[in-house]
Amino acid sequence: MPSKPDFHQTIDPAILYFGTPVVIISTENEDGTYNLAPMSSAWWLHDRCILGLGKNAQTWSNLIRTGQCVLNLPTEDMVSYVNLLAKTTGVEDIAPRKAVMGYTFVKDKFKKSGLHPVESCMIRPPRILECPIQMEAVLVTSHDLKGDLAEEQRTASAIEVKIIQVHAKQSVQLAGQINKIDPDKWKPLIMSFQHFYGLSSRSEDSKLATIDEEMYRTVKRQSSLRSPDVSSKSAESNLLAIAALGSMTFI
Ligand SMILES: Cc1cc2nc3c(=O)[nH]c(=O)nc-3n(C[C@H](O)[C@H](O)[C@H](O)COP(=O)(O)O)c2cc1C
Repeated sequence: MPSKPDFHQTIDPAILYFGTPVVIISTENEDGTYNLAPMSSAWWLHDRCILGLGKNAQTWSNLIRTGQCVLNLPTEDMVSYVNLLAKTTGVEDIAPRKAVMGYTFVKDKFKKSGLHPVESCMIRPPRILECPIQMEAVLVTSHDLKGDLAEEQRTASAIEVKIIQVHAKQSVQLAGQINKIDPDKWKPLIMSFQHFYGLSSRSEDSKLATIDEEMYRTVKRQSSLRSPDVSSKSAESNLLAIAALGSMTFI
């Protein structure tokens, strides 16, 4: 039987959240307590992450003021924690728009969610024990979105943070290679159009994956110096290749 024709139509979606990993950001409040917030407008390139954050969030104020945060990545089976944090804010004076959406003020989001803090190595905000991947990060720069609109309408910003320390549970590491995450073991929680998903199993062979991960390295953090994860010969030759190309000629 011929399949039904599938035409494109022009549509006007209110949101364009096509599917990105959920990040729970921990930051430090003004009084020295800590805040948590789920978000998912995040992407990584080299040792940097760009975070899309509403400027009415406590997380935004904390990050701009302190310059520090931890990006904690939950797994697909940690949805219940994220749901306990959803529609909460650390801002006492809730913005009218958020109040209409049903947001409530929560001072202690670790208590509210049942997640547990664990000290970070380089910065003050704590990591979340339950998250298999935790990235300590510092603020580099922030850029208002909607620069084409009047200042009062620029309600969100893209914040560049630099990842200075990465922690990963052994259960998501590639066997015998401490600096590599095994994508067959790592099960990120994905938010797509406000709903939660996991990743399905690995698809057909990826041409991109024929490139050695070490070829992308632009920085060497303490952990990788402490625990080399590839044979020193191949790491060395990759670094030499990068040096020969001049830094950052490819992504
Ligand atoms: C799954 C999920 C994803 C979210 N993604 C974002 C996001 O990418 N950017 C953002 O500003 N808010 C996002 N939010 C909403 C924030 O969590 C919300 O603004 C919250 O009030 C921030 O907390 P805070 O005010 O204590 O910082 C998301 C919420 C959930 C539950």
